[in-house]
Amino acid sequence: MNTQATDLIASVSTMRKAIQLYPESHPAYRQAADGFVQAAADALASGPLVINVYEGRLYAGSDVITGDGPGMSSLADAMDARLVESLTFEAPFEERDAKGLAEVLNLRPSPELDVEEELGKRGVRHVHVGTITDEEAEERAERDRRRQEDRALYHRLVAQLRRLSDMLKRGEDVELSTAVPMVEQIMKRLMEDEAAVLGMATINAGSEEELLHGINVMIYSLHIGVALGLPEDGLTSLGISALTHDIGKVAFDRDDPAQEAEMERLHPTVGADMLSRVPDETHAPMLVAYEHHMGTDGSGFPERQGDYVAHPYSRMVSVANRYDRLSKAGDNGEPTTTPDKAVAALLRRAGGELDPFFARLFVRVLGVFPIGCVVRLSDHSVGVVSARGEDLFAPQVRVVLGVDGIELDEPIDVDMAQDERSVVEVVAPENLGVTVSEYL
Ligand SMILES: [Fe+2]
Ligand SMILES: [Fe+2]
Repeated sequence: MNTQATDLIASVSTMRKAIQLYPESHPAYRQAADGFVQAAADALASGPLVINVYEGRLYAGSDVITGDGPGMSSLADAMDARLVESLTFEAPFEERDAKGLAEVLNLRPSPELDVEEELGKRGVRHVHVGTITDEEAEERAERDRRRQEDRALYHRLVAQLRRLSDMLKRGEDVELSTAVPMVEQIMKRLMEDEAAVLGMATINAGSEEELLHGINVMIYSLHIGVALGLPEDGLTSLGISALTHDIGKVAFDRDDPAQEAEMERLHPTVGADMLSRVPDETHAPMLVAYEHHMGTDGSGFPERQGDYVAHPYSRMVSVANRYDRLSKAGDNGEPTTTPDKAVAALLRRAGGELDPFFARLFVRVLGVFPIGCVVRLSDHSVGVVSARGEDLFAPQVRVVLGVDGIELDEPIDVDMAQDERSVVEVVAPENLGVTVSEYL
């Protein structure tokens, strides 16, 4: 049964290619059409055949079709992109059916495309389609809409943080409370959809590097705060402190290499000084700016007195800060680090530079394959980790490149715990031309 289904699938692929390449009278076209009709006749000898697609895999009835024979992934993708869940083949399968089906699978996928109607127009009578329900399509649309809103929120945050930084730089009076609504919005989204918020933090910098860094550190710090069970006002205060932890850098000229070392060394004291003039009862932002490079073991800067203990928020922000730097800029001069290596590097620093409790808590939040990790699966397809799984080694993965390395029309969500494939390695997204934040 499986071999016949595999042959049938291969012949669909051959037919689709033949239609694109040759006129109907060409021998190669004839051969493809005859081959398709014959393969269908063989497969249908014992009754109708249903080919289903589920999470990027093809099934003959309820049996998974194994192997990666020709045309397997392209048929799965083609069905998925056109919201076709199943194709039921019936005898007598004729050339008109073969041609019509291949043509329809070659039509450009769009929300308006009605596969059933298109097959009808072409006189296809021996293939029936089962389409993905409106509910599922709506779910997808809803997810896309949310993603756009999240992006917009992120960009509003960048703009607001830029205003705040500029005002502090000019020595103007600043109310940190103006940042509260945006911290609250992020927290609300964090509670609703953790993956979406962690996904935002994978957006890579460019010219806005420092601003994005502040926001990313805020996102990661809030994760630690939530995992710790901080009350809401504590989270707000932690979020604002994280947002402004590097604010001292605005006092330096970033484009002047002579100032760079100074900036690195002095931004905690300069930042704390700036923030000491801003009214805030908790003093947390000022303390975090001052203490975030100090190191739990005192190995950092500025130098501290023997029995000095940094504020808990400073220790949380240090973990978040280190993770953002590690995952974007790499470790010890390595050019870039994948998220799993950043996690390992973070753990190496737990108990030394970083508070061991907060570092481990954060790693528990992130998982072994943090959200945003680009992973290769055992069938060579590639996806982006979109959520943690119950099992730390079996996350939810949004598959974006097929087994042939070609980008899918539409990413496919896979729960690795329910899939026969497994995650085999983490890959650097730039090696594959994948922009992670586009898929989260
Ligand atoms: Fe810093
Ligand atoms: Fe920082």
